Amino acid sequence: MKTFLIGLIVGLILIPLCVFIYFATGSAPVATAAPAMPFEKMLANSALHSHIEKEMPKTVPVPADEPNFLAGANVYRENCAVCHGFPGGTPTAISRGMFPKPPKLLEGTGVTDDPPGESYWKVANGIRLSGMPSFSESLSQTQMWQVSLLVANADKLPDSVKTALYRPIPLPPAEPTPPPTSTPPTKP
Ligand code: HEC
Repeated sequence: MKTFLIGLIVGLILIPLCVFIYFATGSAPVATAAPAMPFEKMLANSALHSHIEKEMPKTVPVPADEPNFLAGANVYRENCAVCHGFPGGTPTAISRGMFPKPPKLLEGTGVTDDPPGESYWKVANGIRLSGMPSFSESLSQTQMWQVSLLVANADKLPDSVKTALYRPIPLPPAEPTPPPTSTPPTKP
């Protein structure tokens, strides 16, 4: 009975109190550069995995072929590269300042070990409190599948797709330099 009461006090009062004090006194990390909270990664990952497992589409309505990879490469260059980067490229200023860091999707394993439906779910819904946006308001379902197929097959993309991916983004034409408005001073 006595141990039961002690257990009850610890469980119902002491632990919630410690958690409250941890947050209320400003001990929890809030800056992107701060280290993760105890258990943060584990809790966030298991919440995400169990949720996605239930909801992700199991069939892929778009074929994993060259035209779709090419379309996916365009979507990637415009919407994803700013955070997820290009292979061998230096991380952008935006990605360097984020927590958690956007993982590399076109280098190493990336998400080639995840089913495309899982990446589709993440692209469509985003990942709350992580900086990974939801694209369901801005991309069509076909575009979200095309880019999800691209990252799911990042280790076996045809050369044409690699070229399309790394083509430097054309800069807008340089402004023509305006002609001088005043005549240069003439030498005496
Ligand atoms: C503003 C930055 C940002 C942009 C833009 C962005 N992402 Fe992300 N993305 C992130 C971050 C940060 C994470 C890591 C989330 C985490 O660790 O929980 C992430 C995670 C992911 C993951 C899960 C990776 C894994 O290892 O499970 C996928 C897949 C993904 N993004 C795909 C995309 C695609 C495709 C696009 C473009 C349509 C995109 N992202 C655009 C920031 C971004």
